[in-house]
Amino acid sequence: MAVSLVRSHSEKQAGYRELVLEAPTIAPLVRPGQFVHLRIPRLEHRLLRRPFSIFMADQDTLTILYKSVGTGTQLLTQVEQGEAVSLLGPLGNGFPEPNNDHIPLLIAGGYGVAPLYLLASRMARTGVLFVGGRTRTDILCDDEFEALGWDVQIATEDGSRGIQGLVTSALDAWAANNAGAEPAELFACGPDGMLRAVGERAITHNWKGWLSLDKHMGCGMGACLACVQRIRQPDGSIEWERVCKDGPIFEAREIVWEQENEDNHE
Ligand SMILES: Cc1cc2nc3c(=O)[nH]c(=O)nc-3n(C[C@H](O)[C@H](O)[C@H](O)COP(=O)(O)OP(=O)(O)OC[C@H]3O[C@@H](n4cnc5c(N)ncnc54)[C@H](O)[C@@H]3O)c2cc1C
Ligand code: FES
Repeated sequence: MAVSLVRSHSEKQAGYRELVLEAPTIAPLVRPGQFVHLRIPRLEHRLLRRPFSIFMADQDTLTILYKSVGTGTQLLTQVEQGEAVSLLGPLGNGFPEPNNDHIPLLIAGGYGVAPLYLLASRMARTGVLFVGGRTRTDILCDDEFEALGWDVQIATEDGSRGIQGLVTSALDAWAANNAGAEPAELFACGPDGMLRAVGERAITHNWKGWLSLDKHMGCGMGACLACVQRIRQPDGSIEWERVCKDGPIFEAREIVWEQENEDNHE
């Protein structure tokens, strides 16, 4: 656990903010896909922390990119430069080392770009980022990915930026145009529905698909079982695993989605 000082805190775009924390004991250890568990100042139930992916990290600082969705993240918007914040991390398994013989395809929904940006910034090769959201203000960091040399493909449900539709439509179009050209490896972060649809594509095209699950968390360290998910084991059996400690990244074929659970019970 570390107490970090807020170096800066600013709006990135409507609804999304960037928080830069001084964390010299945590930041150098960070691997892409890991997260920090943050105690939010002024939150009534102060013992409960909130998990956030690490968006950027260097030797001294780490940055999170977050959306205000409820009580905790609303109070987080009030944190000021110089204020102390308690931090646990880096937590979770992180993404595996990318296979450099495969073109990386990153698929992000909303703030899901955060861990994918750290991953892209440390990759040996560039690839394609598919980024989706409800409307144009949910499209984040496209400039940053382009500056790294990535091909950025945007989809919005209302058509206000990029193609109109789901981010998987853009991925499907890419797959149709690149069929058999080069093997791909998928890395995705976003809401469950998106992750499940991306996982189905990974299986159909016989690609590896690394999905970062977004679960409500308690302790963040494997003790409370608030975050469990059914995971298919190598021998075919299904076990509950902890998203905070065994994940948050799982391969598409391992994840037993809720409906699948219900189907299996019928
Ligand atoms: C590994 C991990 C990484 C994350 N990274 C980021 C990030 O980089 N940026 C970011 O903005 N958010 C991220 N989140 C989500 C973030 O933790 C939640 O938005 C936050 O905990 C909400 O707290 P709150 O008190 O504002 O919301 P609450 O008042 O607790 O809830 C408000 C609403 O958000 C829903 N909600 C709460 N937590 C989650 C969750 N984990 N997933 C989906 N819905 C939720 C609730 O059901 C409710 O509808 C991440 C979550 C996980 C598990
Ligand atoms: S949040 Fe407590 S075990 Fe995962």
